[in-house]
Amino acid sequence: MRPSRSRAALGALLIPLMLAGTAAVDARHSPAAALDNGLERTPVMGWNSWNRYQCGIDEALVRRQADAMVSTGMREAGYRYINVDDCWQSSRDSAGNIVADPVRFPSGMKALGDYIHARGLKFGVYSDRGTLTCAGRPGSQGHEYQDARSYASWGVDLLKYDNCNAQLDQQSQYQTMRDALAASGRQIVYSICAWEFKPWQPKTGNQARTTGDIGDEYTTNPGSGLLPVDRIIDINNDYAMYAHPGYFNDPDMLQVGNYGTGSTSGNGMTDTEYQTHFSMWALMAAPLIAGNDLTAMNAATRTILTNPEVIAVDQDPLGAQGRRVRDLGDQEVWSKKVQGSGVRVVALWNRAAAAAPVRVDWRDIGLGTGAATVRDLHARADRGTFSGGYTTTVPSHGVALLRVAGTETPDAVRITKTDPRTITGLRVRTEFLINDEWHDDFEDTGTLDHSTTLSLDGNGATWNGSRWVGDLLRTTGSTAGPAVVTVTRTDPRPIYGVRVSVTFTVGGQPHYDYEDLNLLSGTANLQLNANGGTWNGSQWVGDFLRIE
Ligand code: GLA
Repeated sequence: MRPSRSRAALGALLIPLMLAGTAAVDARHSPAAALDNGLERTPVMGWNSWNRYQCGIDEALVRRQADAMVSTGMREAGYRYINVDDCWQSSRDSAGNIVADPVRFPSGMKALGDYIHARGLKFGVYSDRGTLTCAGRPGSQGHEYQDARSYASWGVDLLKYDNCNAQLDQQSQYQTMRDALAASGRQIVYSICAWEFKPWQPKTGNQARTTGDIGDEYTTNPGSGLLPVDRIIDINNDYAMYAHPGYFNDPDMLQVGNYGTGSTSGNGMTDTEYQTHFSMWALMAAPLIAGNDLTAMNAATRTILTNPEVIAVDQDPLGAQGRRVRDLGDQEVWSKKVQGSGVRVVALWNRAAAAAPVRVDWRDIGLGTGAATVRDLHARADRGTFSGGYTTTVPSHGVALLRVAGTETPDAVRITKTDPRTITGLRVRTEFLINDEWHDDFEDTGTLDHSTTLSLDGNGATWNGSRWVGDLLRTTGSTAGPAVVTVTRTDPRPIYGVRVSVTFTVGGQPHYDYEDLNLLSGTANLQLNANGGTWNGSQWVGDFLRIE
């Protein structure tokens, strides 16, 4: 069994909001000073020194990687950033300016930036919010504005900002560097590396790490201290609702092609596993930062990293993060809304030790049950037209990545009651992002023994400068029959993320559950799946709400 997902932790965040019991936007979601640098409209693509070399870097090595970025076709495929991770810096001068290691970077960082820019590429560097970086080099604490000015003078295009050796408030320190970069006079992508998601990060950085460091392993790597690819995918999925142009979740850099030879630990992966790693990063709209030696790539690695149809999934302009829509045990269906009416990219992921058929039903991905075309993005071949769904055999630890073009169904989220017992006290709460601002609303439906339709009524609400006024979620209808709650999107603006949570009482015991989805358009059905949950005397165990 894979580790459980972090529903409980997220639930704890939301419960105080639910008790507050107001239908307005709460203070946590009020507009605050926000990152508005216009950068990272699609996820960053590039290379970083850490996974392969850790501190074993110098300017000649970085230049060779920049050259290889061009000669291998990586630049042509869309990769741009050459990011120098930890260990380029050695000290501060008498004026407090950060100084590059004079032995390893004798030409200085400006010259390195010029070399990279001359090849049509962009230049990234690394620092840390604390007194020292994770590898013990000088951090930026107390020097944020000074360092940002240095970076700007060198032509830096991206800053990765780490979280080691820090005692001061994390959010304030990350905001200080955000403001320092904004004041530097140069457009610099801000990459937060704090190893876990926090709700303030999408307004602070262009991307933020959602997990600890990645190992070069597909699955659990006892004792390494690093996270395997399968575990990272599970964690990163919990934050899908936050991704949008300007902010993307960062599940860490790629290990594709390291085969256990990198400096970060792990015994390597098979090419099938590397293809799964890359495909799921693309589906999740993750930054694609290669971490292998670009000067010595084999054909399989190059094919994985440069497949234009998979890269297009990552770079889709809607900026939605794909998410798990169906968990069949060892097989899973993941779906990403991409540009175009009725178009989804679907990953059929087989986590089992043997090959297995995996099926996607069109209703799982918000499409009508009629005909839809299927294209296999790894084979780069059309598979034909299929009604209802599509089944294919997926190798062990593999992913089939499909582009499905069918018919959109009306915007709605359906929550269906399947538990035969009476459910009382149902509260349906939605939180969602429109134009980068959080909306929050709920409706109480009382006893759920009838069908109720709830609408996200964005038309009726306006931001008055300090709070949302109006009703964002309202009951629009009721009929007899099976118990169904429908949350319908009526606001025409893109909604980047929606969290639908429910509280209700069955048999005298309270339940709580939620699902997140991108409701850019299309339908997702959420089901109160009481069959899967049991009360163990102190808490509910199992999943009560799932995409149907
Ligand atoms: C942390 C980060 C890594 C890398 C190292 C450098 O562990 O999470 O990605 O930057 O620091 O020391």
